[in-house]
Amino acid sequence: MPKTETYDDQIVRLFLLAAAVWGIIGMTIGCWIAAELAWPVFNLGIPWLSFSRLRPDHTFGVIFAFGGSALMGTCYYVVQRTGHTRLALGRLARFTFWGWQLACVLAMLTMPLGITQSKEYAEPEWFIDILVAIVWVSFGTVFFATLARRRIRHIYVANWYYGAFIIAVGLLHVVNNIALPVSLWKSYPVYSGVVDAMVQWWYGHNAVAFFLTAGFLGMMYYFVPRQAQQPLWSYRFSIVNFWALISVYMWAGSHHLMYTALPDWVQSVGMAFSLILLMPSWGSAANGLLTFNGSWHRLKTDPAAKFMVLALVFYAASTFEGSMMAIKTVNSLSHYTDWTVAHVHSGSIGWVAMITIGSLYAMAPRALGRPAMHSVRAMELHFWLHTAGLLLYVVAMWTAGVTEGLMWRATNADGSLTYAFIDSLIAIKPWYAVRWLGGVLVLSGMVVMAWNLWHTAAQARARLITPIPVPIPEPEAHQVPAPLPVY
Ligand code: HEM
Ligand code: HEM
Repeated sequence: MPKTETYDDQIVRLFLLAAAVWGIIGMTIGCWIAAELAWPVFNLGIPWLSFSRLRPDHTFGVIFAFGGSALMGTCYYVVQRTGHTRLALGRLARFTFWGWQLACVLAMLTMPLGITQSKEYAEPEWFIDILVAIVWVSFGTVFFATLARRRIRHIYVANWYYGAFIIAVGLLHVVNNIALPVSLWKSYPVYSGVVDAMVQWWYGHNAVAFFLTAGFLGMMYYFVPRQAQQPLWSYRFSIVNFWALISVYMWAGSHHLMYTALPDWVQSVGMAFSLILLMPSWGSAANGLLTFNGSWHRLKTDPAAKFMVLALVFYAASTFEGSMMAIKTVNSLSHYTDWTVAHVHSGSIGWVAMITIGSLYAMAPRALGRPAMHSVRAMELHFWLHTAGLLLYVVAMWTAGVTEGLMWRATNADGSLTYAFIDSLIAIKPWYAVRWLGGVLVLSGMVVMAWNLWHTAAQARARLITPIPVPIPEPEAHQVPAPLPVY
């Protein structure tokens, strides 16, 4: 009897577990540093626990450890289903899991010890950067090798986004981290002065573009039609948006360096491209939302779909806000204030975390061979905890940000400043406490998710010992483009 080929879901389950664990770790650190800003006593007089040392642990933990694990796990899941094929190079795929986890642990341990390049979102030192580069090339090899052995001619749009995410992040990582090591723990970048700043924000902005946006759009384009149980609203529109997004994003990075020593025209280029960027961003958000047309009733019973819809709403909101903040006059108010932090978290807790959670809820039972998650009520509770926490967080930071911006620019009739800096800190202190509360709600939701995943996995434990044989269905000849990816 010929051997039935099955999907390789063990690797998917490993990444799923890692995403849940890192999500809790990263957000716990986020809550801790939020508490430190509201009540400095939380520094506990220990230098290693000060805000400046823990902050990179929060950003690295949530973006690369939590987000990265979720992206790699879903990518392996999606590329198999949309290509009707088993993952290529199984051992290399396992190396990408352990290599990525090692890089995350090393980064999270070394950064608070002061072993850092001091480049935002690229803090880890050279030896970790080399490990990340090796893992990333292996990840790309597994993905493209699987794509090459697909049994459907067409490449479903989710894979276009995952592919762009892999290629661009690899390129950004290598170029931004070119440095000369002077010891095991220390290196110096080859760039200096304003060139260093430009390269760093070309990287930083495109990390948002290709890590926090393109990768998660790949997730969205697969799981939203799945959960809405109907084809994507417009397949052609998704391809137009893809090319528009990847060709425009690369030019917008200088909006992070407004009113700096960067040449004025480079700042203006960043502003112009940021405004154009609104179109493909809203294009994808609209495409995702319109996919629910005709199945809005599913939101009543399906919390995973609710997470996805709100993620798309926040994707639209945060990209609109970003385009507005890139206008020089608006940026003169928002820059250096908590408005930026509000924008970041409406994008990250709103868009990134919600599309991830929705997709994990959609994927987990299938990857674990269960008909559904253990508790739908727990999913519902998670949705409301997350939504309430998110709203508290962003409303608090918007208010704090605009307050700071207005107080800093207020002048008396003689031109002197109306307020001292400390006045603005006193004014926003209550909002820091509200932000902390919002963070605690979001974190509690993550704990509920971990509990639910644990019980779903426990029910599947007997089957987990031997991999679940999910047979790969024969592709239909006319399946171009695959409107509903097959499970
Ligand atoms: C059309 C899309 C977007 C545009 C034009 C945009 C624009 C901007 C602008 C102008 C800033 C403020 C720069 C400053 O004053 O320092 C900013 C900061 C930031 N944005 Fe966006 N944004 C967009 C979407 C997003 C999304 C979807 C996310 C997250 C998922 C995000 C994450 C960030 C982060 C992390 C920062 C802070 C960077 C830092 O200073 O550390 N952005 N963005
Ligand atoms: C429990 C939820 C969270 C809490 C309480 C929290 C808290 C914080 C705090 C206190 C900061 C420092 C702000 C400052 O420097 O003034 C911060 C920064 C940041 N967080 Fe979070 N965070 C949470 C979730 C997330 C998630 C899920 C992501 C991404 C997926 C994220 C990405 C970031 C980024 C990129 C920054 C740097 C922002 C900037 O430079 O402007 N956070 N967060």
